[in-house]
Amino acid sequence: MSTLVVAGLQWGDEGKGKVVHFLSENADYIVRYQGGNNAGHTVVFDNKEFVLHLIPSGILEKGKKCIIGNGVVIDPEALIEEIDFLESKGIKIKNRLFISDSSHIIFPYHRILDGLREKIQNIGTTKKGIGPCYADKYARSGIRMCEYLDRTIFQQILKNNLKEKSKVISNISKLKKEIFRNYSGIVKKIKDYVTDTSSLINDLVVKNKKIIFESAQGTLLDVDFGTYPYVTSSNPVAGGVCSGCGVGPTKIDKVLGVVKAYTTRVGEGPMPTELNDKIGEYLQTKGKEFGATTSRPRRCGWFDAVAVRYAVMLNGCKEIVLTKLDVLDELEKIKICVGYEYKGKTLAKFPSSRKIVENVKPVYIELVGWQKSIKGITKFKHLPINARRYVRKIEQLIGTKIRIISNGRSKEETIVVD
Ligand code: GDP
Ligand code: IMO
Ligand code: MG
Repeated sequence: MSTLVVAGLQWGDEGKGKVVHFLSENADYIVRYQGGNNAGHTVVFDNKEFVLHLIPSGILEKGKKCIIGNGVVIDPEALIEEIDFLESKGIKIKNRLFISDSSHIIFPYHRILDGLREKIQNIGTTKKGIGPCYADKYARSGIRMCEYLDRTIFQQILKNNLKEKSKVISNISKLKKEIFRNYSGIVKKIKDYVTDTSSLINDLVVKNKKIIFESAQGTLLDVDFGTYPYVTSSNPVAGGVCSGCGVGPTKIDKVLGVVKAYTTRVGEGPMPTELNDKIGEYLQTKGKEFGATTSRPRRCGWFDAVAVRYAVMLNGCKEIVLTKLDVLDELEKIKICVGYEYKGKTLAKFPSSRKIVENVKPVYIELVGWQKSIKGITKFKHLPINARRYVRKIEQLIGTKIRIISNGRSKEETIVVD
């Protein structure tokens, strides 16, 4: 397969960074297609931990090239910080990173607006300005990379934007100064990375290059299909690659879904299998479930097969990576949610209505745990029988083959299932 989408199927933080890093070995290019620095993708190698926010995880694999597509929103200061950080660790970025000239720019006023809206809406956003930046994009008042790099045009568009924002933000002249304080330095640092990435990617497809599209967030945070309004402002579903990179649907060969062996969510919004008990605490501690971007504790709960089955459908994935199976090692009993009960009836599908998702009662089956460490196991057949049963049960419930199992943070701790 030449083009592969790696999509998160839950509420983000499924372990996409680890999985993409593992798969990057056999890829030429790794591409981000949506979201921004709200993402936090952790990659662990040589006992070092890297958290990537904007740059695809493949940058950590020697020689691989990375692309940030038009669907991504870019905070230039965050981008430079990430580039500088990686370079300080000896990772070469020059000639390995390509940024779309049509990507939209996040400005300080987007971050301020994000904070102001949070006071009213309480979505629990990352406050990185993601929602307000996408809102400007769709309102056709956004500033794209190609305009940002042209000082004259940039100044003209910014003037109108600041006029509009001054209705809700005070001291706009201070903000303008802030935007221009580092402007020349920023442009100098990023301009050589900027290009027409849709032409680039389509050329790569023609040349049969191996491309991985790395989603940020997860399907249940998708603005169209997630638990609206408790979602992000982009389309993490695999279909987002088409609009987020300028690649036609016929050019996508395969979609691989990434799911955690249990469920986590950071921020507000419904999560039917959430556990506010000792098991929830166990999952949080053992799984080190604290946000990679905001350090907030992640809410934890049992695996939700209803939600994942829905996500499998939306992404069209035929294969799955199951991550963090080792986190369940010590549990005596493990539950899986197999249905939602609402007003005495079992629902056939994941509900769209916010009121319903908030009030469903999960229906569980219970499996016996394996109570043994699975660290260091590299073959499926060597997993304890109850761990294999758990994996097979999930496959059966979501109707999809589990092709890869992750049993640790580094890429060596990965089991490819035959
Ligand atoms: P992403 O946003 O989907 O890339 O996921 P995050 O990096 O935000 O969160 C996943 C966390 O789980 C990171 O700290 C990873 O290092 C860690 N992780 C990934 N896979 C495994 C695994 O199989 N086992 C364990 N114990 N940790 C894992
Ligand atoms: P990765 O790529 C988990 C959540 C926020 C909030 C909602 C909206 O690491 O999986 P936003 O700042 O996007 O407007 O916030 O989305 N959120 C994530 N949760 N993982 C992420 O990214 C997330 N990115 C955003 O917590 O609930
Ligand atoms: Mg994350």
